[in-house]
Amino acid sequence: MNIRRTVLTLGKRARAELKGQRPLILWMTGLSGAGKSTIADRVEDKLWRCGHHTMVLDGDNLRFGLNKDLAFTDSDRVENIRRTAEVARLMLDAGLIVICSLISPFRRERTLARQLVGADEFLEVFVDTPLDECIRRDPKGLYARAIAGEIPNFTGLSSPYEPPDAPEIHLHTAVHDVDTLADHVLGELRRRGVIACLP
Ligand code: ADX
Repeated sequence: MNIRRTVLTLGKRARAELKGQRPLILWMTGLSGAGKSTIADRVEDKLWRCGHHTMVLDGDNLRFGLNKDLAFTDSDRVENIRRTAEVARLMLDAGLIVICSLISPFRRERTLARQLVGADEFLEVFVDTPLDECIRRDPKGLYARAIAGEIPNFTGLSSPYEPPDAPEIHLHTAVHDVDTLADHVLGELRRRGVIACLP
């Protein structure tokens, strides 16, 4: 290999110190239509109100740019998660609290994402909405189309979703509203000493 790592003067700690925060990746996983993006958006807003520096990496949005060459085959999803995890790591190095919101259906890739960073820098958030409820909500009309056979490899129908075994945060969206769930995430961050302010 003809490359060598460039040593930089500043590191993650210096960049984070200036922002007055502990960088972290919040990795939200769940079915399409589970509510990941909505909750990520609310969590980011609450963190911003607390004076924190954040970024949301949203699966759908990334597929308009960085990941526009990827489809929904297993191998493309693996690459989708790998790239997003690498970007999240860079943002962690920039000192940010990064909220990733992707179906990320495979345990193996979520584990690889976790292993890219330190043990105290990654929290897996399971946005747990039963498939029946996602089909009932169908916010983008995609389940109806997938059931009609118009969308191949659709997660939960014709492509697998492997739920997390031991997520750090488990959100039951059928039971609580968005605000309560976002407050729960902030409460967990507070309990773990990542943030100081109350939700
Ligand atoms: S992931 O599986 O690779 O993590 P990602 O989160 O980037 O998925 O994108 C999921 C979004 O793409 C869904 O919310 C949905 O809007 C859209 N989508 C389009 N085709 C599919 C499909 N076959 N399976 C799941 N989601 C799909």
